[in-house]
Amino acid sequence: MHIGIAFDLKADFGAVSGGPEDLLEEYDSDATVSAIERVLVARGHRVTRLGGGRRFLERLLAASPELVFNIAEGRGSRSREAHVPAACEMLGIPCTHSDPLTMAVTLDKAMAKRVVASCGVPTPEFVVVEHERDLERITLPFPLFAKPLFEGSSMGIRRRSRLADRAQLREWVGQLLGDYREPVLVEEFCGGAEFTVGLLGNGANVRVAGTMEVEPLLVPRDQFVYSLEVKRNPNWAEEISYNVPPKRARAEIDAVEKVALDAWRALGCRDVARIDVRCDASGNPKFIECNPLPGLAPGWSDLAILWDRTGGTYETLVGAILDEATTRLALR
Ligand SMILES: Nc1ncnc2c1ncn2[C@@H]1O[C@H](COP(=O)(O)OP(=O)(O)OP(=O)(O)O)[C@@H](O)[C@H]1O
Ligand SMILES: [Mg+2]
Repeated sequence: MHIGIAFDLKADFGAVSGGPEDLLEEYDSDATVSAIERVLVARGHRVTRLGGGRRFLERLLAASPELVFNIAEGRGSRSREAHVPAACEMLGIPCTHSDPLTMAVTLDKAMAKRVVASCGVPTPEFVVVEHERDLERITLPFPLFAKPLFEGSSMGIRRRSRLADRAQLREWVGQLLGDYREPVLVEEFCGGAEFTVGLLGNGANVRVAGTMEVEPLLVPRDQFVYSLEVKRNPNWAEEISYNVPPKRARAEIDAVEKVALDAWRALGCRDVARIDVRCDASGNPKFIECNPLPGLAPGWSDLAILWDRTGGTYETLVGAILDEATTRLALR
């Protein structure tokens, strides 16, 4: 099969002056694209690199692949992750991963929470803040958590994102509004165990590929944030332990996986997603966010780590995503 890969590289954006230092955190490295390409070629496919943005459109039209393998984060808006699947849909070219609606809804974390909550999935209470003056109306109990409304890869997520009081809330939200120039999601802080659930499938065949607990080693759970500082720490193993499967009773893991599966269904995901779930102080699992374009950096992204700890290889991970798409689309 002729497969095009859609992607956005950090390098495509060149040097960015001004703005927060994690502005390009969502974008991929050439090593990730090469790793995916190697898997696809080893499986006998012909591969064309399509890239992202305008170049993606030009190459897509010129190459006309039979399938697009999509890891493109897009640029510039809360709909950015929907750009590639929308273009493919318009041209009738099949595409891996979720459709434009799911991509757009999940990137806006408040939209995703409204959708899952309407289907009975527990998620922390929240408020969307557009201006600092909105903060005065917040009556949610502290501690709270604040993050940019439509980003991923820990953009704008720091140790100090956990807010103990109104002074910290004002200061951190003010900084996020200025840095990211988008609304801020303020929600209840869940101080219990943290999990991420990898899911694969389509329709009734959705299944949990693996569940990983991210266990803090240096701070108590109720202070822990799986932040950019932690994710970028070269000595991360001193700070956190990735437990696959979680060292917990089956019933507890089942409850976490139920939240993830119910959220997947509510959001209409396809092929693959990674869903973050965190327990509140009483141990009740809550939906935090859904990543229908989970990072695929070998040995680095959570889904790749999780898959590796279940005994899989990078080849079988990319292969499993491809197989889900080709089965859904009845392609060979
Ligand atoms: N309401 C909350 N309560 C407690 N911790 C939270 C909450 N929201 C986010 N966090 C912490 O911040 C981390 C990152 O938040 P979130 O998953 O929303 O951001 P992200 O940048 O989209 O993540 P990813 O790197 O998975 O794309 C979570 O893994 C968790 O540790
Ligand atoms: Mg997350």
